[in-house]
Amino acid sequence: MKVAFGNDHAGLTMRQILLDELRGRGIEVIDLGARSEASVDYPDIAEKVCQAVAAGQADRGVLVCGTGVGISIAANKIDGIRCGLCIDEYSAVMSRRHNNANVIAMRGREFAPEENRRLLGIWLDTPFDGGERHERRIGKITSLEEYKG
Ligand code: RB5
Repeated sequence: MKVAFGNDHAGLTMRQILLDELRGRGIEVIDLGARSEASVDYPDIAEKVCQAVAAGQADRGVLVCGTGVGISIAANKIDGIRCGLCIDEYSAVMSRRHNNANVIAMRGREFAPEENRRLLGIWLDTPFDGGERHERRIGKITSLEEYKG
């Protein structure tokens, strides 16, 4: 598996432990994240990572900003991306089982690094349930990419 990884400055403290988790699993990482505390804009990070996933250069994406909220909102603007913000085990499991999320957004501030590492592992290990019901709903999400209001 190949994973595109990105963090903004607020995700810096979480960065190394998540990269260690990915590389420790033998996953090839495309590292597109910020490497210093200099302020960067999280939509730019989301764009780079999600473009890599949408283009098939990476199988999955991992994103970290302060809350995980902003970067997940940005990620979900990109066609073909289903990004779930995962801050507990249930969201990590179900975003894979039901939503076939191809990108995970994680909280970088006020959150235990070891817990994020655990959640990332769960998310990576959990397969999509498949089946008509979930495929149909994901198809409807994809259709929303054409929505013009
Ligand atoms: C950066 O200060 C912060 O706003 C960003 O990391 C993120 O939390 C936005 O949703």
